[in-house]
Order: sequence, then structure tokens, then C-alpha cells
Amino acid sequence: MTETFDVKLDEKLYIPDPRIKESAWTPDYTAAYREFLQDPEGFWEKAARELEWFRPWEHVLEWEYPYARWFTGARLNITYNCLDRHVRGERRDKPAIIWRGEAGEERILTYEQLSAGVMRLANGLKSLGIEKGDRVCIYMPLVPEQIIAMLACARIGAVHSVVFGGFGAGALHMRIQDAEARAVITADVGYRRGKTIPLKAIVDEATKDTQSVERIVVLRRADPPAELRPDREVDLAELMANAAPECPPEVMDAEDPLFILYTSGSTGAPKGIVHTCGGYMVGTYYTTRHVFDIKDEDIFWCTADTGWITGHSYIVYGPLATGATVVIREGTPDYPDPGAFWKIVQDLGVTIFYTAPTAIRMFMKYGEEWPDRYDLSSLRILGSVGEPLNPETFEWYYRVIGKERCPIVDTWWQTETGMHMITTMIGEPMRPGFAGKPIPGVVADVVDKDGNPVPPGTGGFLVIKEPWPAMLRTVYKNDERYCRYWNTIPGCYTAGDLAVKSEDGYIMVLGRADDLIVVAGHNIGTAEVESALVSHDAVAEAAVIGKPDPLKGNIIKAFVILRVGENPNDGLTAELARHVRKNLGPIAVPAEIAYVDRLPKTRSGKIMRRVLKAQELGMDPGDISTLEE
Ligand code: WTA
Repeated sequence: MTETFDVKLDEKLYIPDPRIKESAWTPDYTAAYREFLQDPEGFWEKAARELEWFRPWEHVLEWEYPYARWFTGARLNITYNCLDRHVRGERRDKPAIIWRGEAGEERILTYEQLSAGVMRLANGLKSLGIEKGDRVCIYMPLVPEQIIAMLACARIGAVHSVVFGGFGAGALHMRIQDAEARAVITADVGYRRGKTIPLKAIVDEATKDTQSVERIVVLRRADPPAELRPDREVDLAELMANAAPECPPEVMDAEDPLFILYTSGSTGAPKGIVHTCGGYMVGTYYTTRHVFDIKDEDIFWCTADTGWITGHSYIVYGPLATGATVVIREGTPDYPDPGAFWKIVQDLGVTIFYTAPTAIRMFMKYGEEWPDRYDLSSLRILGSVGEPLNPETFEWYYRVIGKERCPIVDTWWQTETGMHMITTMIGEPMRPGFAGKPIPGVVADVVDKDGNPVPPGTGGFLVIKEPWPAMLRTVYKNDERYCRYWNTIPGCYTAGDLAVKSEDGYIMVLGRADDLIVVAGHNIGTAEVESALVSHDAVAEAAVIGKPDPLKGNIIKAFVILRVGENPNDGLTAELARHVRKNLGPIAVPAEIAYVDRLPKTRSGKIMRRVLKAQELGMDPGDISTLEE
């Protein structure tokens, strides 16, 4: 680990309309945080009481560093809270899921319909011999059946491992093997940019020599439908049609596993992050309600894929636990044209919109005329996740999409944390570039490598100091790796991110700790330089890497995507260098700038600097199973 370093902070502040707070679930962040600090367990207990349990807990938290158990002794089923609770009450006929296909096709499932589908598939899985504790791999496009499959597993206590439908056979194989999945639920095809993605063929390839997989359940969408092998392959629609309609929820212990989700490490094999039933339910429920301030009338759209933690927590479990109407869409944001997203916002009257900075920057590149063609007045709250939301992007999002009306919640969290950890709660003053403060329920700080808090303006490591309900419980079959999160910096959960605090306690996330470049003895965060480049009018997107240099240790090389209509030339290169110098100082000026059309990214949109670096240095890029293209 490196030492701490100085960061220049922008002092800009946006004060939201005070009326936003009036009707908010958390009208006063400071008071809510104080309430939490006075009685942390009582705080989470109160949230848990808003949900239904089959048996109450003995203790809210049992903490034996680094192992936490939440709501010990309690029994529940998360699907009971996501489905039955609503079907029994007033939300029975409320749309739970509104699905849009790439070509504008639409399907709506009410809570009752969703519940009926889940129970049938749950019984279907049982009829195939799937039992509580078995692992089921879900490899599907973003269709309602993907969510039905997840909930059907949870209904019977099977542990789902969702693998994003954009992964290739190698990545899928590795994840099936590691989890020893007994069944795979897939679809014959997915659709993307008008093209067909042969998911079933990829599953065939990935399961050629897997010992554990007994059954493959296939959602057949193509015409004519894919041929199935009768000994091991099952048609999903038939399985559901032949199953009994009622499936009582399996009674789960709060600490029983709910799912495994693989996340890429900075090196080596992906890690199977394990989440459990009780704490995860409470954490995602609370944050969906309070961070997004979700109300019964809201139309909530999280543009992530369900295959990522963002989809698990904020398409499926959190929003459904609150009884929300959730929008999902199969396909890419700029197909059939760059107005596709805004058309959906207009058509469906989306009120809360949650996306990633990389998508926003793509929209910036296409220009304001696309969103300007649509009526976005239904929007009330905007969210961001996945990467630092640099000030330039924040301002565009705020002005062009939110019309300077909608608060932006830039939510910092991870697959491991399961739920939002840091954000600026709605109604609080917003600082562009800063995610914000720890949400009520979370204790976060920026520290040096020994765990001592660093002063404002000094960069350090982002850590979480107390357990939280939705935290990972272990890394599947690799508990040593789990312990490493907690013993890298004494007494803290180390997120692996670098961050800096302002005088008033706002946290700016600078990027991964491994995304540091040391130039002539100075630590420079890739995110900072990228943010400076993107703040130039000509630049749409940028990635920077360190390149070994005999004199300086490293120099900075930048890869830049220009906005439509801009052309690379020497004048521009000099101009960009001047721009970075002005923003960050001479030390951060890229020694080389290359203009490119694309950047290597993970499918969740994170730039893979490692790949750029390997290319640059003519080295092997290592594990690139998470690379998009
Ligand atoms: C980064 C996604 C800055 C961070 C939910 C973290 C962010 C990693 C933000 C986790 C944000 C996520 N600002 N950086 N608002 N949100 N990150 O597991 O580096 O896919 O450690 O979870 O994304 O990525 P993951």
C-alpha cells in the first residue's frame, strides 16, 4: 500500500430546493445520522421491523471480528417480503415490472402475476430435484424471467449465482465450476443492437465438462425455438405450465446464504461474494426507500443489468421489497438511436432514474439534442453508480437531464457491501465530484495505512469501520480472501478505493487503490487526471495509465475519445496538456496523449486500465474475462 497524498478540492456547492426535504423519508440527514450513532442496533432494528419475519431475532448483531451475524435466530423468506406482502395488500394489481425490448416491445407484470410466475418456477425447480442450499446459475438476458428465476431460487432456498449475459463461455464455465451449480437457467437468445446473442450455445460450450450441472432450463424466445436435449434440457415455459401454482416460501434463517455473485479482483480469478437473507434484505430495503426516497407512485428505473450487484440490489430485491414499479430494458442505451433511454423516460413517466457515469458520458458525447427531444419532466431523482461521477459529468446530468430540478444521488458502494454506503441524501447540498457522506447506518472514513483518519484534503484509503447488515459474509470457498478485506488496515473493512474528504465531511472517491500512478514520487489518481481531461469541451471520455520511465518512475499516458465533431491535432494535444496543468498542476500532465475511438471496458462499464497498460507495454493483459469487447 502507498502513503497518503494531497488532493486539490473544488469548493462548488449546489443547494437543492428546500421543498425536496419536506416529503422525504429522510427529511434531515444530520438528525438521522445522529439517531443512528446513538443506537446503531436500534436503528437497524427499526428498519427490520418494517418487514415481515416468520420468527423474530434474538440479537440484531453478533460481531466477532471479522465475522458479523445479523438478526440472529430470525426466520424469513425475502420473496415473502418482495411478493406475498404486496399481493395480500393493496399492491396486488400494481405493476411490479415493466419490461421494454430493444424494438419497443412491452410486457407488464403485476405483483400478482410476478408472484404466480415465481411460485410456478419454484415448484418447477423442485420437480427437477433442486433443494435448499443448492446452487443455481442464472445466465439470461434482461427479461422478466431473469428476475423470476432469481426469486424462484430464493423462494425455495436455492442459492443463485447470476452471471451477466454478456460474459463468454470461459467466464461462465469458471463461475459454474466454482459454485458447483446443479442447474443452469438460461435463454436460447438475447437481443442486442438488433443482433441475436446465442446464449444457449454459450451455455453448451461452458457446460461441456462440468460435473455438477444436471439440468439446463431454457427460456425459448427464438423462432423457430431451439432444439432441446431431452435427457438434460428443459423448456422453461413447459416447466412452469406443468408446475403447481402455490409454493409456500421456504423458511430461511437470517444467516442462510441468499446468493453468490462473482466480482473481478484486481488480479487473478473472480471472487464469489456471498450474501445472506436477513441482513441483505434489510439493507437493500432501507437504502432503496431512503436513498431513492421511493414512494408508491414512483416509476423506478435502474439501467444496470440484473447480472451485476446493482441489478440484484436495486432492480430486484430492494425495489420489490418496497413494492415499487420497476422498469427494465433489454439492449444498449444508444440503440436504435441515442434517444432510446429518454423515450422510455417519457413514455413510462419514469420518476427515479439510476445509471452509471459511463452511460452519462456517452450521452454527453451524442449531445444535448437527444434528451432535448423528449419530455423528461416526470423525473424527480437522478442516481449514479459504478465510478466517480466527475464534476463535468455531474453538471451535465444535473442540467440537461434533471433540468436543475432533480437532486443527484451519487451512490458509492460495492458488490461486497451489497447496499449503498456513501451518498448525498436528497435535499442535502451537493458537491460535484463528491459522492457525499456515509448514509445513516454506515460508518465510513478516509485513513492512512495504519488506520488513522487523514485530514481534509489529504487522500487516503476508504474504509468502513463498523459492520453493516448487507455486508458480504465470506468469499465462496475462500474465507482467507474474505479476512483480507478486514485485516489489511487494522480494525477496518478496506474497500480498495482511494478517497479524500472535504472540510465538511464529504467524501470524494478517487478510484481504485491500484489505479494510482506514481510520477516522480507523487501519487496521482487516474480518476483525477481523467476527470480533468473530460472537463475539456472537446473530450468525451478519457483513460490514463502509468508508463514506466527511467527518469520519473512513471509518466502519464492518456487515451482520449473526442466528442463528435472534434478532430485530433497537435494544437488540441497542447491545449489538453495546458488544461490538465491548469486543473491539477504540471505533475499530472500526460506526457503522451493518444486519440482512440473506444476504450477497453468491463461489461459494467469500468475502464480496464490494466488492458491499456498491457497493450502499451506489449505484455499479457492477464484475466480479461470481464472485458466487454
Ligand atoms: C467503484 C458497483 C466512485 C468503486 C456498485 C468501487 C464508485 C467499485 C462508485 C465497486 C461511486 C462504485 N463513485 N466509485 N459512486 N460506485 N464505484 O463491485 O471503485 O461493481 O470499489 O459495485 O466501483 O464496483 P462493483
